[in-house]
Amino acid sequence: MIGRLNHVGVATPSIADSVRMYRDVLGVTDIGEKFAMPEQGVWVCFVNLPNSQIELIEPYGEASPIHGFLAKNPKGGQHHVCFEVPDIIAARDDMAAKGAAVLNGGTPRIGAHGVPVIFVHPKDMGGVLVELMETPKAAH
Ligand code: CO
Repeated sequence: MIGRLNHVGVATPSIADSVRMYRDVLGVTDIGEKFAMPEQGVWVCFVNLPNSQIELIEPYGEASPIHGFLAKNPKGGQHHVCFEVPDIIAARDDMAAKGAAVLNGGTPRIGAHGVPVIFVHPKDMGGVLVELMETPKAAH
């Protein structure tokens, strides 16, 4: 079974604009610095909330997988939800056994939190792109 909701991924054409909105309109005071994940094709910035995080993602480079999403959602929008799991390989194998399609050929990648993640196709997840991430050992 999945564990806690780690974050909600939100795609945006401009992290700077989104940060202003979370800070100035919604009043969030704990917002990290924007950083690049070139191998994933995204800029990332975490908006830290008392019980979770918003992961802002902006395209990095022409090959970014976010371009297609923003073409359909020009203002940005909810992109994925991320749940923690104790063991990413066990979770991957469990998804496969239950017939849910895992992206990237089922090979985990190191995500923005520095732990392995997989993505499960929205067609098998009620229309929601689901990220499963191994619970960070030192966090909480
Ligand atoms: Co994420």
